[in-house]
Amino acid sequence: MSTQLFFADATPFVTPLLTVFSVDISTGPDSEPLPTLLTTSDTLSNSTRGILTSGEFKATLGETLLLHRPAGLKAERLLVVGLGKAKTLVPAELRTGAGTAVRFAKARAIRSLAIIFPEDRALSDEHLDTLDCSKTARALTEGALLADFDPEIYRTDRKDRSIESLTVLAPAQEKGSHDDIRTGFTEGEVLAAAQNFTRSLVLEPGNILTPTELGRRTAAMCAAHSIECAVHSTAKLKELGMGAFLGVAQGSAEPPALIVMRYEPAKPASDKVIALIGKGITFDTGGISIKPADGMDKMKYDMAGAGAMIGAMQAIASLKPAVRVISVICSAENMPSGTAYKPGDVLTAMSGKTIEIMNTDAEGRLVLADGLHYAKTLGATHMVDAATLTGACVVALGKVNSGLFSNDEDTCDVFLQASRGAGEHFWRLPCTDDYRELIKSAIADIQNTGVDRWGGAITAAMFLKEFVGDTPWVHLDIAGQAWIDENRTSIAKGPSGVAVRSIVEWVRALAV
Ligand code: BES
Ligand code: ZN
Ligand code: ZN
Repeated sequence: MSTQLFFADATPFVTPLLTVFSVDISTGPDSEPLPTLLTTSDTLSNSTRGILTSGEFKATLGETLLLHRPAGLKAERLLVVGLGKAKTLVPAELRTGAGTAVRFAKARAIRSLAIIFPEDRALSDEHLDTLDCSKTARALTEGALLADFDPEIYRTDRKDRSIESLTVLAPAQEKGSHDDIRTGFTEGEVLAAAQNFTRSLVLEPGNILTPTELGRRTAAMCAAHSIECAVHSTAKLKELGMGAFLGVAQGSAEPPALIVMRYEPAKPASDKVIALIGKGITFDTGGISIKPADGMDKMKYDMAGAGAMIGAMQAIASLKPAVRVISVICSAENMPSGTAYKPGDVLTAMSGKTIEIMNTDAEGRLVLADGLHYAKTLGATHMVDAATLTGACVVALGKVNSGLFSNDEDTCDVFLQASRGAGEHFWRLPCTDDYRELIKSAIADIQNTGVDRWGGAITAAMFLKEFVGDTPWVHLDIAGQAWIDENRTSIAKGPSGVAVRSIVEWVRALAV
């Protein structure tokens, strides 16, 4: 998709589909909706007046209304997209709105569209802060590009419905804001490209995206974005003594991959080294503690944590924050076989801690144990890991919020604030030492599952914490959010790219 930003009036703009946003400005809970266009153009208001006052269109989020040959406009069609209540409008809804317009066009094989930059005349003052021009512009390009992502890549009869051209038409006046709009527009492109790269990795089936292939694609991305990347395998894992990671990998004919990326800013603002550690299980059968057949196919997305970190590194390479960032990806396939690790085995992690295996399906925490410890040896001062770690986290929080765990209040606060700015949902769960005894083993230092099934997301986080020590750390359990089960108006079902935006915002917040 090619994207353009023009500071121009929409009335004379020639396009197959012109999009304008609408909000509901009614206030009381029981009052009738009052849809209003977010534009100062009288031509647009006049051409939609009849339909907007008819009561047929309520401007709910993602609602659409199409007019052909709109009066006074050069556009072939005018699409009105609802954003919900004016009073509660946030950038996330603009992302949804832009995405809705793109998916509306794709479904009708319309290849080119324009979106009118929302002008907030209809909004109350309290929104002028949250909806600043830069955030608005970013939300528009990001939403549009995320919506263009098409997961049906292996259909032989696939019809390419990708959008060729997207134009954002911003107000020509208010010259002071043009630079902010341009900055937001470009940031949206960078962040969307990063999330779509993550999604493209997570989408791939296990037979295509093996750990080795994940290494290859990551190295290619790094080469294109001028960041350092090294891809190691079994020999290096042995040399480093990564007994936990090796234990998981040993059941598969596919060799593991330890991927290490490094971003070095021109002028670092501090001595911080931020480490992004990702769970990259390219397929999780459960191993000897094998999973039920139903739904096992989805376990190709068990590398979504790794995918998020790789996407985040791509965005970081483009945005160039003034802080060092490294990323450690631990990738393996979890298989049952004659060489597989077994329940009852004892593994020795790189840190020297011994782990009794109670369940080979709790493999993510094992590869991450060595990834976290390794990141510390590389000088990490702040760490974040992302993993599709536990079904228990999905039971606890459903599919809206990802689980967040941390050993440091400040780091946690900065992350949560960054994630709110990014429009993602994380909910903190505890990992205090009260839970420590749940992972005690009878014969080794710790065991890889809790003593019983309660608090499964927490016992997994407690396990990781054993390898983190005092380094400020945030753990993200994204098992319930990495995959979208049903098509939405603004985004296709399939991989979501969750956590990329929040991680990038967090890194930028620490770049001081
Ligand atoms: N990859 C799974 C977690 C998962 C479950 C991700 C559902 C996405 C959706 C992980 O490796 C796993 O199997 N965890 C076990 C842990 C248990 C054996 C302690 C689980 O959650 O059941
Ligand atoms: Zn598992
Ligand atoms: Zn897993």
